[in-house]
Formats: sequence, C-alpha cells, structure tokens
Amino acid sequence: MPHRLRLLLSECISMIVSSGDSIAITGGPSWKVPTGRRDGLLSNASEALAQIPAPFDNITILIQKFANKSLDLKDLVLLSGAHTIGISHCRSFSNRLYNFTGVRDQDPTLDSEYADNLRSRKCRTQNDNTTKVEMDPGSRKTFDLSYYTLLLKRRGLFESDSALTRNNNTLAYINQLLQGSLQSFFSEFALSMEKMGQIEVKTGNSGEIRRNCAFINN
Ligand code: HEM
Repeated sequence: MPHRLRLLLSECISMIVSSGDSIAITGGPSWKVPTGRRDGLLSNASEALAQIPAPFDNITILIQKFANKSLDLKDLVLLSGAHTIGISHCRSFSNRLYNFTGVRDQDPTLDSEYADNLRSRKCRTQNDNTTKVEMDPGSRKTFDLSYYTLLLKRRGLFESDSALTRNNNTLAYINQLLQGSLQSFFSEFALSMEKMGQIEVKTGNSGEIRRNCAFINN
C-alpha cells in the first residue's frame, strides 16, 4: 500500500509512540514527538491523495504542495531523504523506463545504465505490479547520505527525487548536506520531522485524540 506510510506520517506522527515522547531510528536520527495530538474525525483517501505529493510530480508542484503545508525547500530536500530507507514498487517509476513521453521512450534525466539494470533485473515489464525495488540500492537499511549522492549521479528512483537536482536552491542544499556531517543531516532531518508533525494540528474541541493513530475513535 504505497501511501500508507506517508499518511501515517502526516496524519498521526504524534501518536506513533503512545507512551513515550521521542522517536529513534536505530542508527539514524531521533526527534521529539509530543503525544496527545488532535486529529480529524474524517479520513478520506482521495482527499489525502490530492494533497500528498506524487512520485511523478515536478519540482514546481513539489514545492507548492510542501508550501501548502508550511514546509519549505529545505524540508522538501530533507524529508525526501527518508528515501534512504525502504522500497518502492515498479509502478511508481516504470514510466521512466518504458514510456516517458508516450512514445515508448526513457526519461533522459535517469542514468541510462541504472535504467537498463532496472529493466533487465527488476521491472521487466511496464505493468509489473509486484516487484519491489530498493530506493537507495546497496544501503536501503541504513539511514545515511547516500540517497543524495545517488541523486547527483542521476540515480534518484522517482521523478520527484530526481527533480530535487533541477532547482538551484534545492541542488545547493543537497550539496550542502553532502559536505556536512551525518550528524548534522540527522539533526536537520529531525527538525523537519517535528515540523511535519505540526501540520494542521486541530485545537480546542475540534477533532479528537485518537486511541489508535490510524483510526478514528468509535
Ligand atoms: C517528496 C514527496 C514524496 C513522494 C513523491 C514520495 C513517494 C514515495 C513512493 C512512490 C514510495 C514507494 C511506494 C511503493 O511503491 O511501494 C515511497 C516510499 C517511501 N517513502 Fe516517500 N515520498 C515522499 C516523501 C516522503 C517523506 C516526507 C517521507 C518520510 C519522511 C517518506 C518516506 C518513505 C519511505 C520510508 C518509503 C519506503 C516504504 C517501504 O519501504 O515500504 N517519503 N515514497
């Protein structure tokens, strides 16, 4: 279920830890998570999908969608850095391999050796719905800077990853992160996570504190 994690993060990050107040990823960043966040009484997939960035979004749309939630360019670059861990299904990027502009072409911004590899070893047909592909090959279980290194090698898996290298400001920030320490990436990432946890928090009597973050209380 592709969007589950992102829904989880944006809708109820504060509730992931119900008895504590900080999140730590082993060998990665950690951040404070205030408990008791009020969430909405309605959870509608199509409403959420309209606002959540898509892997096919270009830089203008990404910036706009983040700005709509009071997240800036740095937040966009930092939070995309979460793609240093985990996997994707082929459908999120196979258009880049097989039919980028509708004439059975390949995305010219994708490293062609990487594209060849993905076609021959992973997403063998355009409609493959089952194969899982690591987003940060070789380091998918490690929270590190290699996602950004790959972006500069034109090996970002999604158009949305690759797009971060095509805006002067986001590109400059990628370079800055790569020149800095892993520890400073962790602390910046943590700040953006905390900021994301504050998106459209309900106050007063509006909404409710969920017992289980993924469900409205009943
Ligand atoms: C910039 C906007 C973003 C887009 C367009 C995007 C898109 C995606 C897509 C398409 C997948 C793969 C889904 C699949 O095919 O199974 C994915 C996976 C993932 N995303 Fe994002 N994402 C974005 C931002 C984020 C943010 C802000 C976070 C967290 C801070 C995040 C964390 C992850 C993780 C950890 C996975 C791997 C999930 C797994 O291994 O099952 N992404 N994302």
